[in-house]
Amino acid sequence: MKLWSGRFGKDTDALVNAFNASIGFDRRLYREDIRGSLAHAKMLTDCGILSPKDGEAIRRGLEGILSDIEAGKVEFSADHEDIHMNVEALLTERIGDAGKRLHTARSRNDQVALDFRMYVRREIGVVIGEILSLESVLCKRAKQYQTAVMPGYTHLQRAQPVSFAHHLLAYAQMFVRDVTRLEDCRERLNQCPLGSGALAGTTYPIDRWETAEALGFESPSANSIDGVSDRDYALELLADLSILMTHLSRFAEEIILWCSWEFKFIELDDAYATGSSIMPQKKNPDVAELVRGKAGRVYGSLITLLTVLKGLPLAYNKDMQEDKEPVFDALDTVEMCLPVFAAMLDTMTVWPQNMRAAAGRGFINATDCADYLTKKGMPFRDAYAVTGKLVAQCARQGRTLEELSLPELQAASELFAEDVYDALRLENCMALRHSYGGPAVRETERQIHEIEDFVAVRRKESEKEEDETPQEDEEASQEDDSETLQECEESTQEGGETSQEGANETESIH
Ligand code: ARG
Repeated sequence: MKLWSGRFGKDTDALVNAFNASIGFDRRLYREDIRGSLAHAKMLTDCGILSPKDGEAIRRGLEGILSDIEAGKVEFSADHEDIHMNVEALLTERIGDAGKRLHTARSRNDQVALDFRMYVRREIGVVIGEILSLESVLCKRAKQYQTAVMPGYTHLQRAQPVSFAHHLLAYAQMFVRDVTRLEDCRERLNQCPLGSGALAGTTYPIDRWETAEALGFESPSANSIDGVSDRDYALELLADLSILMTHLSRFAEEIILWCSWEFKFIELDDAYATGSSIMPQKKNPDVAELVRGKAGRVYGSLITLLTVLKGLPLAYNKDMQEDKEPVFDALDTVEMCLPVFAAMLDTMTVWPQNMRAAAGRGFINATDCADYLTKKGMPFRDAYAVTGKLVAQCARQGRTLEELSLPELQAASELFAEDVYDALRLENCMALRHSYGGPAVRETERQIHEIEDFVAVRRKESEKEEDETPQEDEEASQEDDSETLQECEESTQEGGETSQEGANETESIH
């Protein structure tokens, strides 16, 4: 029987039951749901709304349910629609009337808003942790290649000399911003909607500050309608993850280019590449390609949720149940992409000599040639024109600027002297670019140190938090959701599956 069957004269149609139920995916929220209920029950007891005896029975009941779920002993049922009603039904089954009192001064609307917020808050920590690991790999690899000259590109045309470290650190900077964006989102979402009730608060003398504090929030949300209505934190998360995936995808694209025979700047480790079923010579960058492809999937989640929300009148509408799967899927995707991408970078072989050879062709020291003349007194625009002519001459003759003899150079401008050859050496061209943020070693060193500090500060903070968090939460952040999820999935909703087993296999056969 439904918890809400009071005013109904008939059972729900079986199809509606299956259609309406969200337990197939919102079972992931079981820890948050139980943690929220524990805080709610304690507050009700502290405020004299529940008797201490009922409060204690509820606490024990909920803790028992939590450990049973964790031990895989609980079978959820679509008859109870969602995680909130499944837990409540189980509790009542186990402790009787006290279980029926738990929902006093609460609605599923503030309950789901709370659970989802806490879930997003926790997962942001997981994603940040993974980005930090990626940053460590980038710093490690960058340190190895600070003097490795490679062509920097614009329009995918060789442009000016940079180091491989400098190029890697460009991505490291993007990921720094991805972390701070997620931190921003986490800070903004940290207001507790519990106590908003269905939408209009409650007549019971509840203490919203107590529950907010117990659940690690900064404060209760200020408006009960807003508390149950908005999902902007989920949108922010999805936007942040979309940007992160854009960065990963651009990086993936370069990996794919770099390991092609056209570039051969790198070679992927055998454990991070795949073969072809017909072409024996093939070694394919499937990991990078999948990361690039999965960016689209995460953008899809953002668009899904934006679309779900855009026409909804306040306050709660059942449409909002559609908020969870895109978020779960985006998190699953990102949390799988980040570690595999980091490991791929960590294990790849870099071929600096091929980068250097590519840098030697394409006149990437032409700007330096013009700068040389400019520093000798020629106006830059004229120096640009002189160099342009020399480049055209070299291109016709299949030579490089530094292969021109001094008399040939002096035919173009008398300002050329023997020291021009030093100025044209790519290693010098790169080393002299020591303007703030440039490719010179001093500057890549600075960036590496700053990023390492950025990572260290956050690692220390999260270690401290872990020390302070009760056991239950530590488990929560370490354990993999998808296992528990999968076991139970079959019994309920079909098609509600969001975990990606199967979809993410990296082996490709042509
Ligand atoms: N399963 C619902 C969801 O995910 C929980 C809230 C239901 N509230 C309601 N009034 N039907 O949104």
